[in-house]
Amino acid sequence: MMFRLYQVWSHFDVSYRYVQMHPVPAKAVILLHTMCGIVGYIGSKNATPFLIEGLRALEYRGYDSAGIYVAGKGAIKRAGKVSNLAESIPAGFAGPSGIAHTRWATHGAPTEKNAHPHSDDTGTVWLVHNGIIENYAEIRTRLQDTGIIFQSETDTEVLAQLIGWYYAENIPLEEAVSEALKEVRGAYGIAVASTREPEKLIAARLGSPLMIGIGDEGYYIASDATPVLSHTRQVIYLSDGEMAVLTPEAYSIMTLMRDPLDKEVETLEWDLEAAQKKGYEHFMLKEIMEAPEVLENTLRGRLDIENNAIHLGGLREVEDALRNAKRIIITGCGSAYYAGLVGELLIEELAGIPVEVEIASELRYRRFTTTPEDTILIAVSQSGETADTLEAIREAKKHGMLTLGIVNAVGSTIARETDAGVYNHAGPEIGVASTKAFLSQMTVFALVALLLRELHTERSDAHSSAEIIRQLTRMPEYARRILENTDSIAAIAARHVDMRDALYIGRKFQYPIAYEGALKLKEISYVHAEAYGAGEMKHGPIALIDSSFPTVALMPRDSLYEKTRSNIEEIRARGGKIITITTGDTADAELLTEDVIIVPDTHEALMPILTTIPLQLFAYYVALARNLPIDMPRNLAKSVTVE
Ligand code: F6R
Repeated sequence: MMFRLYQVWSHFDVSYRYVQMHPVPAKAVILLHTMCGIVGYIGSKNATPFLIEGLRALEYRGYDSAGIYVAGKGAIKRAGKVSNLAESIPAGFAGPSGIAHTRWATHGAPTEKNAHPHSDDTGTVWLVHNGIIENYAEIRTRLQDTGIIFQSETDTEVLAQLIGWYYAENIPLEEAVSEALKEVRGAYGIAVASTREPEKLIAARLGSPLMIGIGDEGYYIASDATPVLSHTRQVIYLSDGEMAVLTPEAYSIMTLMRDPLDKEVETLEWDLEAAQKKGYEHFMLKEIMEAPEVLENTLRGRLDIENNAIHLGGLREVEDALRNAKRIIITGCGSAYYAGLVGELLIEELAGIPVEVEIASELRYRRFTTTPEDTILIAVSQSGETADTLEAIREAKKHGMLTLGIVNAVGSTIARETDAGVYNHAGPEIGVASTKAFLSQMTVFALVALLLRELHTERSDAHSSAEIIRQLTRMPEYARRILENTDSIAAIAARHVDMRDALYIGRKFQYPIAYEGALKLKEISYVHAEAYGAGEMKHGPIALIDSSFPTVALMPRDSLYEKTRSNIEEIRARGGKIITITTGDTADAELLTEDVIIVPDTHEALMPILTTIPLQLFAYYVALARNLPIDMPRNLAKSVTVE
């Protein structure tokens, strides 16, 4: 039996405890898994409404086909939207248990035939699967040689057939599942049903998130918390190498080898309302408008104004390591990476510790050259499930580094696998484009930088943190003021709605925000957008500028205002249109540009939190005017669990 120090994160407090960790079969190396959604239900109610609603709740993860299996009724699958599937369900398609799935195609096109659930060739075993079975081709050939006929091109069907092959008459479903899983290589989260044992569902996980909800009227299976929130708050997060056997009356958790496990039941903190649109047309707009509360929640209980101190309960146990840190590596993907770039500046400026930031998909393949004893890895992730970020953490751990997480999704894999960390408390983020989570990530970095400053400098320096702490307390109010101006930002967006390209520029603290702004525009309005450090303009990108190629200039009146202002002059001299995000007196900016957005003034290290908000709104209104599917942009998924 292996034992490992395992940390449970909490609000303001952290506790360590020993839990039993069961070894994962050596051959089950976690490589890749995909972004799909799984739901399942068994209990005293009709399963169908939960399964369909559950799929709708998981739509934001990204998918291209959907399917449902209900005990006693069989399976229905459809290419395209969950609504297509819902419309195809006949009256009376009801039963006390079932499983359902949204598929994001990997092996085989997104057709009805390839959609899940898949069954064995006797139609006894039904399976939904997230992930990739790497050795599916050899298993398929072997099964075909025994006369088994395959219906689809998927790796998932191979697993369903393999379970069916092991499911001899005297064998319970969990044993057949366990035997089959011993043979597969790859990654999976699965839910399995059987016509022979309709009063049983099996869930198993290796590398793809899955949780069990424990309700008064039955048990739920889901890829994440959103489908179960309205039914129960009591959940068990399956870890890699674990399996759950559910019946209408009871559940048991075991290893894939079927050794029983005693798992902790955890309480979900997110409330249902937070996962709904609250009257907004899109989740993205709702989530942008939540900025003030999000900032309040991220800061709550963490600022000690009287003593100019920071309380991050999740880092208390690692304060010695933080005190000894000589180098910090920050990693993440997409917006989380850009938040890391802001974090780098904050930590270097406020605490004087050298920081390197690297995208996780690169970091995981690089050689770590730092000494692990005094280097700390900080991984940033909203979902806590991003495959590359997770692998970068695992590599850093192998190298012996302390790993910390800045994570929004409570109980997610990254939260559980890092040694310690800070939760964002931004609440569920459903819109595919990250907005409120990004604000809270930067805010957490401000707190971490202040904490590191406290641990690395003399107390006499404390007064210099005071102004930043005071400004942090004002952030929610500043955000509120920016959000009062959505109409003027929408009007600016309307003036640029036909642009084909856009350039975002900024310096120092605004440099990562230029990248984030460009990413938002690309993601939801499909406008080609580039970001540059404003000082780079002369080194190439200014050649792009003409009257049809607007520049979004991030130029608050900070220490580099004059420098960026000169860059703007150069762009204007070449006929380029300019949208300026600035602070204070408008007069100067208006002289320079036709479109000006003013944000409240604050310490320059915190200004990224404020200048981000108008960029999110700008991208939103451009996409709205172009009538695009803002919450689910093409080709994108919320939880990128594919390498
Ligand atoms: C951008 C966006 C993505 C994510 C990235 C990391 O709007 O949403 O770039 O930031 O996929 O995701 P998490 O933070 O879940 O690790």
